[in-house]
Amino acid sequence: MQQEELGRRALLISAGCAALGLLGACGSDPAPSPPAQAGPAPNGGLVRTADVPVGGGVVSADGVLVLQLKAGEFTAFDATCPHQNFRVQPPDSSGTITCMGHMSHFRAADGTVIDGPALGLGGLRQVAVKVSGAEVVRA
Ligand code: FES
Repeated sequence: MQQEELGRRALLISAGCAALGLLGACGSDPAPSPPAQAGPAPNGGLVRTADVPVGGGVVSADGVLVLQLKAGEFTAFDATCPHQNFRVQPPDSSGTITCMGHMSHFRAADGTVIDGPALGLGGLRQVAVKVSGAEVVRA
């Protein structure tokens, strides 16, 4: 009897949250979808160089955004947004990195904040990288 009442209450709370559009406040996580992620680099690097598009980037399995803004030149940032730690997306064709968490934007050239709630919290943290064989590795 008591378990039946708890189940009925949970159902009513869930229905109430959905009706009020309060999914985040009621326990469901409406987090944005994670950024596209590169597959593992077979020799222990962050990513394979071939997986990093020229003019863009990919996020490694361990959360490093590896960029190739010019052919053969690799740079990287910690993909963790300084606002509330969502992972940022690789840059678009204009060189803007977006955090879908709360829509902060960063310059791919240097990781500085353009706008959004990350303003004043510092930019993306640079990660030193180099090419080793066919992979991008931490320097
Ligand atoms: S976590 Fe990136 S803008 Fe909020």
